[in-house]
Amino acid sequence: MKNKDLHNFDTLDYRELIPRNGFIFKFRKKDNRFVHTFVEGSFITDAITPSSTVVGHTLEDFLPQKQALEKLTYYERAWNGESVTYEGQIDDVQYVASLNPMMRDGQVMEVIGTAIDISDQKRSETKIQELEKLSVVSELAAGIAHEIRNPLTSLFGFTQVIKEHVKDDSIQDYLDIMRNELDRIDDIVNKFMFIAQPDKTMNISECSINSIIASVIKSLESQVAIKGIKLNFHNQTMITAECDQSLIAKVLKNLIQNALEATNENSGDIEVSLKDINQQHYLIQITDKGSGMTKERLKRLFEPFYTTKEKGTGLGLMIDRRIIELHQGIIDFKSEVGKGTEVNITLPKVLKPK
Ligand SMILES: Nc1ncnc2c1ncn2[C@@H]1O[C@H](COP(=O)(O)OP(=O)(O)O)[C@@H](O)[C@H]1O
Ligand SMILES: [Mg+2]
Repeated sequence: MKNKDLHNFDTLDYRELIPRNGFIFKFRKKDNRFVHTFVEGSFITDAITPSSTVVGHTLEDFLPQKQALEKLTYYERAWNGESVTYEGQIDDVQYVASLNPMMRDGQVMEVIGTAIDISDQKRSETKIQELEKLSVVSELAAGIAHEIRNPLTSLFGFTQVIKEHVKDDSIQDYLDIMRNELDRIDDIVNKFMFIAQPDKTMNISECSINSIIASVIKSLESQVAIKGIKLNFHNQTMITAECDQSLIAKVLKNLIQNALEATNENSGDIEVSLKDINQQHYLIQITDKGSGMTKERLKRLFEPFYTTKEKGTGLGLMIDRRIIELHQGIIDFKSEVGKGTEVNITLPKVLKPK
């Protein structure tokens, strides 16, 4: 927008100036306070504050103290004739705002502000950062995993040899602990190896998704029994699709295990369902009535090493998402604290050649 147009702002149709996912506002300094004289745009009413709380009011009237103070400095600079741009966040909405002073005879008469919702762009920025983090992790993983593999094999072997020769029960207990801890290291090393070379390990064939789910559920039977809950599989449709059977099983196992770990005896059953979405796609849904998650936790879910469990690795969901993406699908979480979590995985039945 040219400055010349700004002079005639009052005669323009405001609506033409309002960004699609933003809002426009004006303020003036009156009795040493910045009072808003105008605001319009769907974004403000939907996401931030109704316009009635803005017009005729100062920032302190409708924003938390800290945010109001922060913006006050930008307002002051604009009032002194400077064009100011800043980024802000209210709840989940991130926006960029610019303040443009309207001069008349060398004096600022009013400041026009424009704000645009940039939450989507911010989300893709975060995704790029995550990917960068992932590639650093992958390189590290590849290096470390190979180094650990060989000594680990010797440790496994010798622990077994000692176990066969030692009669003392208390020593046997220690050896069992050692075996468990070695299993844990082996698990992490395997995950690292997978992160480093996921593409090469893909082995695609036409599979019955029903059978994959059924066998994962079977492998978790004892863990489910301990919890005293049920794991119900709603097995109405038969679906065959192209996939790497063991990788999809790995994903489902981790997701159901996560659901189990979030659930206690009184919370309720875990439901797994398989549905046709259309000719090309199907949906696997895993629902638990466990602890659920806060918004903050949901945001960090796929970060490597993000875990809230003492014995967790925090690599599970990162790998799950990677596998689902390699299968050209989408994984999505919905969760509410105290109510539970729903995971939706949408996958194509036939994979597009790369
Ligand atoms: N169904 C669920 N209910 C509640 N929290 C979950 C659920 N699934 C995942 N989480 C949270 O996400 C974190 C990361 O999961 P994951 O990547 O599988 O690693 P890990 O299971 O090793 O902690 C978990 O530690 C947990 O806090
Ligand atoms: Mg897990």
